[in-house]
Amino acid sequence: MTQRKGIVLAGGSGTRLYPVTVSISKQLLPVYDKPMIYYPLSVLMLAGIREIVVITTPQDQDQFKRGLGDGSQWGITLSYIVQPEPEGLAQAYILAEDFLDGAPSAMVLGDNIFFGHGLPELLADADAQTDGGTVFGYRVADPERYGVVAFDDQGMARQIIEKPSVPPSNYAVTGLYFLDADAPRRARDVTPSARGELEITTLLESYLHDGSLSVKRMGRGYAWLDTGTHASLLDAGNFVRTLQMRQGMQTGSPDEIAFGRDWISADSLQERARMFAKNDYGAYLEGLLKERAAGTV
Ligand code: TTP
Repeated sequence: MTQRKGIVLAGGSGTRLYPVTVSISKQLLPVYDKPMIYYPLSVLMLAGIREIVVITTPQDQDQFKRGLGDGSQWGITLSYIVQPEPEGLAQAYILAEDFLDGAPSAMVLGDNIFFGHGLPELLADADAQTDGGTVFGYRVADPERYGVVAFDDQGMARQIIEKPSVPPSNYAVTGLYFLDADAPRRARDVTPSARGELEITTLLESYLHDGSLSVKRMGRGYAWLDTGTHASLLDAGNFVRTLQMRQGMQTGSPDEIAFGRDWISADSLQERARMFAKNDYGAYLEGLLKERAAGTV
């Protein structure tokens, strides 16, 4: 099978975070101690994906390049594509068609944060399914804000409805989509919705219609956090801070994942640690190096 490739969709207008995002991309804002995009990027890396494209607005691309570079510091390949206008999530597959070059993909929204024990296994299962797609349903208190899954009597997904006024369930579709190589072709068949966007739900519906979409429930042991409003962004930062302070472990660190998988050498990690020598993130990377040298990990 062709190796699955990754897409981080990090365009959009970020209007709910105005005035903060008037001059900076939402996905570059800090979630506690790291830029927001580190978290979704880490999810793709946890899924074992090493060839990743970052889709940005035209005006923000340079800043993303400055922050993330070519990915070699993490043993991955990063490239960049511009989305001229925020014309919907499904458009990403059309923009990334040449990049994907017939490969299956995992796309993650640049403002989505996932945390949970067993995430690597969940991702490995989704990756193993080569035909059709896998998305994740997560129980939320306010489903009307999301694409919502309607289940049949057997608990199988029957329909996905975008922002329904009467939600058929409490299960929202998260911003992480594993789709097969057919996604760009299907995306080209999507017609714009009433709000003028190529909706991801319409693309997913096309898979669902063929019986080739698996909707996996992401259970209560996981956190799926929103960062799109001032309050939810602060909550996400506090969540990460609380967790990291208590456990003494990082969440959403591409440096740690790359080192843990031997995608980078100790020397490369040392270079990164030196860059951050003045803060806890740098100290954490130093700690990883010491543990490896002592043979404790
Ligand atoms: P949204 O949160 O729906 O939109 P937004 O980020 O533009 O914010 P706001 O509603 O405050 O104006 O987008 C979800 C994610 O998808 C986010 O990471 C931005 C990204 N996105 C794109 O990259 N391109 C698009 O065309 C759209 C609609 C979203």
